[in-house]
Amino acid sequence: MQQRVSAADARRSDACERVPRLNVRLQDGAQFSPRAVAGRRIMELIEADGFPIKPECCGGSGCSNCHIKVPAPWRSLLPPPSGEERERLRLLPGADERSRLACQLLMTADLDGLVIELQPESVAVQTYWVAG
Ligand code: FES
Repeated sequence: MQQRVSAADARRSDACERVPRLNVRLQDGAQFSPRAVAGRRIMELIEADGFPIKPECCGGSGCSNCHIKVPAPWRSLLPPPSGEERERLRLLPGADERSRLACQLLMTADLDGLVIELQPESVAVQTYWVAG
């Protein structure tokens, strides 16, 4: 049986499809795409997806544990880093012109499809205890 789609249903469907996408790459080549809610910090989106990032300063730009690198096509869409973020990155080993702090970047609809590379030092090591 064929169902008819109302104009309101079509608009709702379009709105759902317009949810921005964020693509997070890891050093080993794995990639995941957390739900990218506009207006939230990129660090929060990664954390909310259950990934073990370790933001010890809770997004205060004080720990540098949310270090990401942003590939060239996307960098030009981001706002420039603040003086504080720039200073943090200057002191961070391994940082370069692609580096940003994920806690200082807000997701927006314009960033739909954004690709970021989460740096290994920003991933919390998970410890498993073996009984016995
Ligand atoms: S969470 Fe600490 S600098 Fe981003």
